[in-house]
Amino acid sequence: MKKSIECLFLLLCLSVFSEAQTLPKRGAAKNFYQDQATKIKVANLLKKMTLEEKIGQLVLFAGKGMITGPSESQNMDEYVVKGLCGNVFGTKTLADAIRIQKLAMEKSRMKIPVLFGLDVIHGFKTIFPTNLGISSSWDIPEIEKFAQVSATEASAAGVMWTYSPMCDISYDPRWGRVSEGSGEDPFLGSCISAAMVRGYQGKNLAAPNSIMACVKHFAAYGAVQAGRDYNTVDMSERAFRDYYLPPYRSAVDAGAATVMTSFNEYDGVPATGNKFLMKKLLRKELGFNGFIVTDFSAINEMVPHGIAKDETSAAELAINAGVNMDMVGNTYLLHLKKLVQTGKVSMSAINKLCGEVLGMKYRLGLFDDPYRYFNEERFKTAFYKPEALDACRSLARKSMVLLQNNNNLLPIPLNKKIALIGPFADNQREMLGSWAISGEAKHAVAFLSGLQKRYPTITYTQGCKFTSEIPNGFEYAVKAAEQSDVVLLTLGLPYEWSGEAASLTSLQIPDIQYRLLEKLKQTGKPIIILLVTARPMDLSREIKLADAVLLTWQPGTMAGEALADIVTGDFNPSGKLTMTFPLTVGQVPIHYNVKNTGRPEGILGTKSSNKYTSRYLFTPNNPLYPFGYGLSYTTFDYHDISVEGNPIKIGDRLKVSATVTNTGLKDGDEIAQLYIRDLVGSVTRPVRELKGFQKVHLHAGESKRLVFNITPDNLSFCRGDMSFGEERGNYHVWIGGDSNATLESSFIVR
Ligand code: BGC
Repeated sequence: MKKSIECLFLLLCLSVFSEAQTLPKRGAAKNFYQDQATKIKVANLLKKMTLEEKIGQLVLFAGKGMITGPSESQNMDEYVVKGLCGNVFGTKTLADAIRIQKLAMEKSRMKIPVLFGLDVIHGFKTIFPTNLGISSSWDIPEIEKFAQVSATEASAAGVMWTYSPMCDISYDPRWGRVSEGSGEDPFLGSCISAAMVRGYQGKNLAAPNSIMACVKHFAAYGAVQAGRDYNTVDMSERAFRDYYLPPYRSAVDAGAATVMTSFNEYDGVPATGNKFLMKKLLRKELGFNGFIVTDFSAINEMVPHGIAKDETSAAELAINAGVNMDMVGNTYLLHLKKLVQTGKVSMSAINKLCGEVLGMKYRLGLFDDPYRYFNEERFKTAFYKPEALDACRSLARKSMVLLQNNNNLLPIPLNKKIALIGPFADNQREMLGSWAISGEAKHAVAFLSGLQKRYPTITYTQGCKFTSEIPNGFEYAVKAAEQSDVVLLTLGLPYEWSGEAASLTSLQIPDIQYRLLEKLKQTGKPIIILLVTARPMDLSREIKLADAVLLTWQPGTMAGEALADIVTGDFNPSGKLTMTFPLTVGQVPIHYNVKNTGRPEGILGTKSSNKYTSRYLFTPNNPLYPFGYGLSYTTFDYHDISVEGNPIKIGDRLKVSATVTNTGLKDGDEIAQLYIRDLVGSVTRPVRELKGFQKVHLHAGESKRLVFNITPDNLSFCRGDMSFGEERGNYHVWIGGDSNATLESSFIVR
């Protein structure tokens, strides 16, 4: 039975892999983690365990220094020995993990192996670009590879479980955590979340280099009001199902072993105690059979949320919502026993929830060998291997987005003299971004080092700090610029301004950096901005002064190499934005797949002279750069769109094709995107929705015919009666290089 489950898993993975942008089969989750052999082992083990020991399996302690919340676990060793703590996150060293595992295996009564987890968010030692950057590559096979490399490195250090992928859709760049996600689009987000699960978990969870994925933050965390972290979320179930749910669902359908609750409330009930989310939706509708962990002290936080009068009631809410594991909050540890004894929580619930955790420990192979992830020999050579660094460099350059390139200023010939200026130019730590817990700045290739290898005459001066002057900083910068042919100016936001608890109300470059740009502009030298950020920014001031802008994100360990590949032209940039860049923070939240409204204006270029339309008085609705946008050193033209099989019946597939031609002088990659619009529905429909994309390599002058399959699933949505499915009617379809694509056709569903 176990074998056949694994075969099924393998088949599903392979079918997904062969067609990059195809999603896992809807409902596939129901087939995972149902093997009888494990269930029998779990049932036998449960019979031997005391209530306290069962509760211990529902407790997750934090290692020292792993604090992203207000509490820290104390006296861990003692609890492990007593069987009261079965899971640990964030041990700092392998030796520490081995010591804790030994305590469990040698000193505890039941000898149940401890599960070790960690936030491996965009790499373990080899740090890949920040996740929003990764998503801008739209490169599903390479994203899967990145997760695989992360799992290989993390597992060698004793990590068996990562708290990733973060699947939260967001339209709000004020929210610092947009850096951890894959942007604003449910379709692309779904492709990426599934790829990451496949990469982490591999074909077999018990393989020594596979780790469990954790889909987070369930659910709708990306919609926190006003972009303020941990804030309230309030939306219709319809919006939730159409826009926010898909990436979580797809990760679960790809076989994710675990899910993490979110801090926010959903429909008035914090996610961690929300029966609709956890039981009705995740368990029943999506068929999730793994285990659910809370976010950091999220059970305790139900008290200040005002849904539980004390932590005992909070624990009761969470456990009765089917939440298996309490992250660091100690509420299960302290209150569950009493809740069972007083009949508020049933013994069968405890057995079920504990059994789901134990089942995963079996599937990881921990009962066969509790030390399987603790191989000191492997540990010594596991990191920064050439394969990992190559994958990292490749994804870093594929993630960079060329936003502006007046007069083809980039690439820069090798004989030109470059002045590299700005606070990020020679800063290794900044390259790694936030959530680089195990990353080591000393291994990161700074921009300066990468460029120096290719442009030996390059000069460097810092100019200013992130938010303040340095003595004579501007003066030296101007001198360096004057003595150069071209200025590469690094501007942006320090890494601590992104990630968790890093919400902002301004999306502008800090003032001192902008003033440096103004000063350098006066030299008359051509200026290329290298933008370092983990969120969309308001660049309306800067693009007027700069000739070119390359969005580098926080590119990771291989930052300097990847940048040099692009600056020299060895690699032609191909990244495309996965979050809209607004003209001003006042347009936020902003996204491309909006509704038309009854008084439409502007989004897709239709201007109206009528004041009483849906618009601002003094600012257009259009963003600075739309979703899907990104330039190349060459140009692409789309033509000859055709629709095959039109009209179709409900349940049929449709083929839409177009030709893309590389009309420039350089070879390059293009990310071709397909959008649809359902013109009339039982509920209003978005003006555009991404339903397919393909990455193609085209030699200069070459053309390729691209064929997209539109499936019934692509056309389905949450209909007027809340059922999921297609509707009859007229559709528009576009194929092109961004969400403003103009090559258009139409089709009918009868
Ligand atoms: C974050 C999670 C993270 C957890 C453990 C929380 O504060 O919201 O994303 O996995 O801490 O570090």
